[in-house]
Amino acid sequence: MAEERAPENTEGGPETDRPADQAEIKQRKNGLYPAVSDELAELMKSGWADTELRDLRPADQAEYAAERRAALSARFPGERLVIPAGNLKTRSNDTDYPFRASSEYVHLTGDQTQDAVLVLEPEGDGHRATGYLLPRSNRENGEFWLDGQGELWVGRRHSLGEAAVLLGLECHDVREIADHLPDDQVPTRVVRGYDAGVERILDGRTDAGRDEELKTFLSELRLVKDAWEIGELQRAVDSTVRGFEDVVKVLDKAEATSERYIEGTFFLRARVEGNDVGYGTIAAAGPHATTLHWVRNDGPVRSGDLLLLDAGVETTSLYTADVTRTLPVSGTYTELQRKIYDAVYEAQEAGIAAVRPGAKYRDFHDAAQRVLAVKLVEWGILEGPVERVLELGLQRRWTLHGTGHMLGLDVHDCAQARTETYVDGTLEPGMVLTVEPGLYFQADDLTVPQEYRGIGVRIEDDILVTEDGNRNLSAALPRRSDEVESWIRGLRG
Ligand code: GLY
Ligand code: MN
Ligand code: MN
Repeated sequence: MAEERAPENTEGGPETDRPADQAEIKQRKNGLYPAVSDELAELMKSGWADTELRDLRPADQAEYAAERRAALSARFPGERLVIPAGNLKTRSNDTDYPFRASSEYVHLTGDQTQDAVLVLEPEGDGHRATGYLLPRSNRENGEFWLDGQGELWVGRRHSLGEAAVLLGLECHDVREIADHLPDDQVPTRVVRGYDAGVERILDGRTDAGRDEELKTFLSELRLVKDAWEIGELQRAVDSTVRGFEDVVKVLDKAEATSERYIEGTFFLRARVEGNDVGYGTIAAAGPHATTLHWVRNDGPVRSGDLLLLDAGVETTSLYTADVTRTLPVSGTYTELQRKIYDAVYEAQEAGIAAVRPGAKYRDFHDAAQRVLAVKLVEWGILEGPVERVLELGLQRRWTLHGTGHMLGLDVHDCAQARTETYVDGTLEPGMVLTVEPGLYFQADDLTVPQEYRGIGVRIEDDILVTEDGNRNLSAALPRRSDEVESWIRGLRG
């Protein structure tokens, strides 16, 4: 449904300093609201029930978010910290992409609303945290039914009072945020890249390098997950497991013989049980499996081919799984498919075995790469010795990518963390990472025997570092080739 566009309307009403009123007057002057009769405007103002929710309790994650804010406060004493959720992005004309709040904002508040901003204002030894949010729509000035983001169009928001209880956070109207960010001597940092309006307010008051330090700290704050986050990641994985089962059930149906059908089948589960998929689903059949981020998904799914499905449900709390299985569409791997699959499985086993507290982050990658290098030499694709292959990284022509990454609110979580704390760091209990080796023989790769060309295999699981080793959160999905085959047979009935 499109909003009605009005003819030029220059009536502004009384001048006022309140930003909300000024915005409304500006919109009316620009003719953005349709002209309505005074009688209709009056009729729309009144006769609405009081729907304020008065029996709310703080959300489960509120206490965890408060702990994260305390860690942030301790790292930047005496500084004003501004963390925006971000704004809607135009898809085309008057349609927007679905809104997804910044992970930094979600992590520190538990809130997911658009245009919101968290501000930590230095106070005493610490900070006072305030959430600046869009309030309920104004019914007096017609905003609630005449504005495209009015509640009559997009649905009821929480009132500031309700949000304060749910988030355990003092809340104010975000449209007044400029007044709460004074141009004073308080050193200020903002997380850049999400809200150009907030960055404009702070223009000249922050410094790119210092802002980057804030982003880096918030990324590193997410390296170790708390108990609530681990529960959410398990929920994401459990939904993802059900999504993979949905796909297997339709794999041999006539109408399912397209990658889009596979993508759509998984998406149904993601939308029904979660918020969305955490990243674009890779439904790659046949030679498409050798393209690492194949998200066009516009090819056929043929019996005899492998289907590489890399997909993850994002929960309603915005934590995502990231799981890959490479399945024989027919239900049975060919001899060569099995040989390649089993090599990747062996590499993944070696990688998972290297995930434990105290291990270097790089260990699981090195362990998996070694297995794959050995296989490539064994098959005559690479000339040995293996040590030389590994030293020169020659196996990477067919292994292509790193063996994993941190997982959480973002699929590639903690991406702004420093090398010394992440890639060159040490694994700790509470970290969650993927282990996802693969072998990819491109269709036009003349260095491998003809029969290898067009085969791509990846196996990816989500692994929690525990006190004494690790736990595979996605263990409910079979991985060994014979177990995958009997799982497919069982689901097909
Ligand atoms: N799904 C993207 C990745 O596995 O990293
Ligand atoms: Mn991954
Ligand atoms: Mn993946």
